[in-house]
Formats: sequence, C-alpha cells, structure tokens
Amino acid sequence: MSIFKQKVVWITGASSGIGEALVHAFAREGSLIVLSARRKEELERVKKAAGLNDNNALIIPFDLSDTSGAADYSKRIIEKFGRIDILINNGGQSQRAEAMATSETIERQLMEVNYFSAINLSKAVIPYMLGQGTGQVVVISSIAGKFGFYLRSTYSAAKHALHGYFESLRLETEAKGLRILMVCPGKVKTNVSFNAKTADGQAHNRMDESHEHALSAEACASQILNGIKNQEEEILIGGKELLAVKIKRFLPKLFGRIIRKQSPY
Ligand SMILES: NC(=O)c1ccc[n+]([C@@H]2O[C@H](COP(=O)([O-])OP(=O)(O)OC[C@H]3O[C@@H](n4cnc5c(N)ncnc54)[C@H](OP(=O)(O)O)[C@@H]3O)[C@@H](O)[C@H]2O)c1
Repeated sequence: MSIFKQKVVWITGASSGIGEALVHAFAREGSLIVLSARRKEELERVKKAAGLNDNNALIIPFDLSDTSGAADYSKRIIEKFGRIDILINNGGQSQRAEAMATSETIERQLMEVNYFSAINLSKAVIPYMLGQGTGQVVVISSIAGKFGFYLRSTYSAAKHALHGYFESLRLETEAKGLRILMVCPGKVKTNVSFNAKTADGQAHNRMDESHEHALSAEACASQILNGIKNQEEEILIGGKELLAVKIKRFLPKLFGRIIRKQSPY
C-alpha cells in the first residue's frame, strides 16, 4: 500500500505545471488533496482531470501575494480532513527583467509570491503537524536558489532566501517530528517562462527556448514524491543544467566563465 494513501497533502500552484502534475501523482497514490492557486476554474479542471471529488479534494483559491488568510485556510483543511500531513509550497512566479529596470514594487511582489507566502503558509500548518508529531513541508526552490542568473535578480534572491529560512527552521523543528525538503528544479517544461514577470509587471508571454525540450512536469513530480518518501533534505531535478550547481561549488572560477556565456532564455 502507498505510504501516501489517505495522507492530506496541500499543494499550492496546483493549477498548472509542476503543481498540476503533483496533484495527479498524489491522486494516483490515494491521497486527500487540497488544491490552491488563484484561478478557481483551473483548479476545478485539475481536480476533475485527476479523478478527484468532494470527498478526497478541497479547493482553496487565493493569491500568494496575500497570505493573511493562511490560518483560516489551515483550519478549513483540519475541519474537512482532520489533519495536514504534507504542505508543498510550489506556487511561484519567475522574472525576466534586468535588476536595474525592476522597480521596488515589482521586487516586493516577487518576494511576497516566492518567499513570504511559503513562510506564512508553513507557519500556519506547522503547529498542526507538531501536534500530530509528524509532518512534511516541501519547498520548491530552483537552481536559481543556488546561483544568480541574468534577468532573475529578485526571483533568485527569493529562492536563495528560502534556503536560509527553511534550513534554520529544520534545525529548530526536526526533533519534534517535522521534515523539510528543499527541491531545486533546473529546467522543467511548464508555463513558468510564459508567466514570468517583466520589468513593467506584465507577463513575459513566451516559452523560453531552454524550457522547450526540458524535463516533463510529470517526471519532476515523480522525483518529488520519491524525495518526500525517502525523507531527503534537498534534491536537484532536471538535466545537464544541474551540473552548474556542482561546478559552482567545486570549481567557482570555471563556473564564473561558463555562467557568463549562457543565454538568459
Ligand atoms: N519550470 C521550471 O523550469 C522551474 C524551475 C525551477 C523552479 N520552478 C518553480 O516551480 C514552481 C512551479 O512553477 P511551474 O514551473 O509549474 O510554473 P507555472 O506552470 O507557471 O505554474 C505556476 C503556478 O503558481 C501559481 N501562481 C503563480 N502566481 C501566483 C500567485 N500570485 N498566487 C497564487 N498562485 C500563483 C499559478 O497559478 P494561478 O496562475 O492560477 O494563480 C500556477 O499554478 C515555482 O515555484 C517555480 O519557481 C520551476
């Protein structure tokens, strides 16, 4: 029997890409799933396509730039399913704008969606997890959380910040039964570049060439489930772009030469 059967899993960014693939993967395992994102109709579509119904799924739509309702959402999940086993902080928005062209307003929006939302949702569910004596928080970071890159300054900063926060939180809570998994995807074929924020706040509206032939969201989701199952602390998911993480760590000068030659797209 699957270890995820009847486990209550809350997935943000469930309306598209990696989050959508995660909904399908957990549905196949027999989990009870909470789907969140802004677009309610897309969440309904994903719920139906994954074969879920009102007994095993709950839709909570909201904007990650305002998580003031986090305590209320968590309470609704507890009222419906009685517990929260796994929170996957997946929802996010990338960036395609030079640092000097990005206003403070856009920077703060990107930090809210990619950083503060994960903190606020996690702080709302962790008390329930500690009460249960067990729980897992999954954070979808990025290889942009491992090194800076062209046109990604605030996005990369937000993803780096997640590592500092959640690595500290892990030390403070693991003895009480909480597990934290950091996931760093490289390139995954989703709408992430399409939806990325440009300097004027509009969507980039195009699929980056580097994403066209990237790993599928389904393959990414399957590796995330394995990471959760194996109680990993950090996993990298993707193709040859992941080498950059190792090169930066062990051969930083070579990394500097290689990264300068990469296309931002
Ligand atoms: N694809 C990659 O190559 C890649 C690489 C590294 C990291 N990641 C990370 O993976 C995660 C998922 O991205 P994806 O690739 O699946 O991209 P995606 O297809 O664009 O999906 C993004 C999801 O986040 C939700 N979202 C975006 N802004 C939101 C907001 N303000 N409030 C609530 N929900 C919001 C979207 O739903 P709504 O539009 O319905 O709100 C959507 O469900 C992100 O954290 C991203 O940074 C992706």
